[in-house]
Amino acid sequence: MATRVLIGGQWGDEGKGKIVDVLTEDAQLIARFQGGNNAGHTVEIGEKKFVLHLIPSGILREGKVCILGNGVVVDPLGLIEEILEVQSRGVETSGRFFVSERAHMVFPYHCRQDAGAENLAAESEKIGTTRRGIGPAYMDKADRKGLRVGDLLAPDLKSLLREKLARRNVRLEALGVESLDIEAVVAQYVDAATFLKPYIADTVTMLNDAIAGGQKVLFEGAQGTMLDIDHGSYPFVTSSNATAGGACTGTGVPPQRIEEVVGVCKAYTTRVGEGPFPTELHDETGARIAEIGAEFGATTGRPRRCGWFDAVVGRYAVMVNGIDWWALTKMDVLDSFETINISIGYELDGEHIQHMPARIEDFSRCVPVYEELPGWHCSTKDVKRYEDLPNAAKAYIDRLEELTGARVGIVSVGPRRSETMFRDVPRETASV
Ligand code: GDP
Ligand code: IMO
Ligand code: MG
Repeated sequence: MATRVLIGGQWGDEGKGKIVDVLTEDAQLIARFQGGNNAGHTVEIGEKKFVLHLIPSGILREGKVCILGNGVVVDPLGLIEEILEVQSRGVETSGRFFVSERAHMVFPYHCRQDAGAENLAAESEKIGTTRRGIGPAYMDKADRKGLRVGDLLAPDLKSLLREKLARRNVRLEALGVESLDIEAVVAQYVDAATFLKPYIADTVTMLNDAIAGGQKVLFEGAQGTMLDIDHGSYPFVTSSNATAGGACTGTGVPPQRIEEVVGVCKAYTTRVGEGPFPTELHDETGARIAEIGAEFGATTGRPRRCGWFDAVVGRYAVMVNGIDWWALTKMDVLDSFETINISIGYELDGEHIQHMPARIEDFSRCVPVYEELPGWHCSTKDVKRYEDLPNAAKAYIDRLEELTGARVGIVSVGPRRSETMFRDVPRETASV
């Protein structure tokens, strides 16, 4: 498989980081295509735990080349911090990590604008953003007012920055937010330019040349289908296309070059931030899932809301992403549950529906229709082969496949590489 796009099938935090790390073994290049450091991708290798926000999770495997595509919004200061952090833990970045010159930059005024807008919003309109400036950075991009990573190489960088910052200060004042010390920010970004210069590249050509030369590319999605700006639970979404189509627009690789789409989903559902979540559990069962699954946000530390698997979401994700197969994570978290529910449809104003309503007012009135399945009441943590899973766990997986319309190719029963089962996924290498 030369090109594989990996995306989240739910509301983010599905375990994409872990699965990317596992699948990186089969790839030479790994590219992020959207989002920014609102993402938090966790990879556990032995006793070491890494949480990556911008750098693709592939960086943790020696020799792999990692790219931030044009669709990503890059906070240069956050990125430098992350580069230094991984370097301090023995990861080489020079010569194997590149940032698109076309990627837009996040500035401190975006972060302040993000926080200011959230603070000002009425309770019902708060999105619960990560406050990383993501929405305002994409606003500037769409408004054609942004600065891009390539601008860090401009000879007149200082004056470019001064001009932008002065205009943004006016916007911050209108929001009642403290304005920025322009010269301090200019100095930070001039230093950042020096640091990042060797990493800035024409990643569009790099990726297309690599594919033409037969190299294998893995595209690493951030967030998830239900957080996609077009297809998610708008307006409670992020500001980019987290679905598979984003891999093309966000890297400059044409659609004919995409060979496979992998969806990552948890065996249950979580959501962090505001917005409707039909299968959310407000009871002891939800609290138990949160506790066993250690469901706290990797970026903000906020507790994640937990609920049962929603097959309406799963089916919808298969449709809008063209998911070829699922990587099903956190199966082990359900080990001790007596029974397990799956939402097979919704009840909306007395009608049974199977589709995803577009209007948030409708989606928020959807009541899940559950099918109850027996639990397996034993630990799956040490199971190494799919065939050795308990029958009830296999029956649960069979039902998820039937309801969502895509096969489960990987089952994950722990955060580590070794806690991964492959079914009939085409793999060039035999072991994880
Ligand atoms: P991402 O944003 O999709 O990369 O997911 P996060 O890293 O934010 O959250 C997933 C969390 O679940 C991380 O702490 C992972 O280490 C952990 N994890 C991943 N797969 C499994 C699994 O199969 N079982 C368990 N128990 N934890 C997992
Ligand atoms: P990964 O890649 C889960 C959520 C925020 C908020 C909404 C908008 O780790 O799966 P934003 O800061 O993007 O404007 O916030 O999206 N959100 C995520 N939730 N996982 C993520 O990324 C997320 N990135 C953003 O909580 O509800
Ligand atoms: Mg995450």
